[in-house]
Amino acid sequence: MSFKAVVKGVGSYLPEKVVTNADLSERVDTSDEWIRERTGITQRFIASENELTSDLAVGAARRAMEQAGLGPDDIDLVIVATATPDLTFPATAAIVQAKLGIRQGAAFDIHAVCTGFVYALSTAEKFLASGQHKQALVIGAETFSRILDWEDRTTCVLFGDGAGAFVLSAEPADQADGKGIISSCLRCDGSMVDLLHVDGGVSSTQTAGHLRMQGNKVFREAVNRISSAMMEAADAAGIAPAEIDIFVPHQANQRIIDGVVKKLGISKDRVISTIAQHGNTSAASIPLAFDTALQEGRIKSGDLVMLEGMGGGLTWGAALLRY
Ligand code: ACO
Repeated sequence: MSFKAVVKGVGSYLPEKVVTNADLSERVDTSDEWIRERTGITQRFIASENELTSDLAVGAARRAMEQAGLGPDDIDLVIVATATPDLTFPATAAIVQAKLGIRQGAAFDIHAVCTGFVYALSTAEKFLASGQHKQALVIGAETFSRILDWEDRTTCVLFGDGAGAFVLSAEPADQADGKGIISSCLRCDGSMVDLLHVDGGVSSTQTAGHLRMQGNKVFREAVNRISSAMMEAADAAGIAPAEIDIFVPHQANQRIIDGVVKKLGISKDRVISTIAQHGNTSAASIPLAFDTALQEGRIKSGDLVMLEGMGGGLTWGAALLRY
């Protein structure tokens, strides 16, 4: 029997503390105008000292499970996409599994930075399609505030903390009503580490390190790579990008989103943008934006939704689903 991975629940979670552009301009040489014009960001949420990535992940997961009407005994796969794990090991997914009271199945992390949620979703789809797992919790969760150099104005103004989660169920393809993940495209070019990386790690410095980015060089790579991944995902499904009902991009920069939308001829009223409120929350940004759009009634049952991400690696990718 073939199975489709159908989205049954979506949830998100944000820390309480809001940091505005004006707050940041008191700390580094920047301005609300520069940040808004170059990125579209007006504020971001920052985790409190005792709030870990797993706590944000659990907050989002609980809401997604509640919406799906599922409890801890129903979930047999937990995947957390994160570049900011609680500990070097075990995986944050294992910690999340324990905090949620899930005692069966598999749990592991996926590390593809800002493309993490697309990688995780595509991976979960393959586990569910195989019939070996039945209900997956796929979470994007980050505390990027912990790896920012708060003296570096070129990076510290861009990122925020948060989490978002999907519950996916394996449904027999002939009973799924066309719903579920339809196609995905995952890519990596590891030759551009210098453009975007963290300058520390277990094996190299034994420290967590700080994020370093040559933003303008990454920017130049973004629109073409994202567009080509979206084209591949659309081609695999036999549709044109202009046919998608809703576009939920990774929220890195409003100008990148606008460039992709223009290149692929997607109508602007179909684009979800939460970058103004959330900033770039890396692997959390897509499910956070998706949940925000659901709460606003902008995504409806049966909609064809395209997701895309690009980030450290460089990694990039896209996924197409019917909600
Ligand atoms: N406030 C004021 N001025 C600033 C700031 C700031 N916060 N940051 C940089 N500047 C200055 C620079 O010093 C430079 O000044 P100069 O002209 O005197 O040298 C000027 O602004 C322009 O800098 P650029 O870097 O060229 O600005 P750009 O228009 O490229 O915008 C940005 C920078 C927002 C980072 C953009 O390049 C971008 O969004 N890049 C892509 C980021 C991305 O998508 N990353 C992937 C995902 S993240 C992940 O995977 C972890």
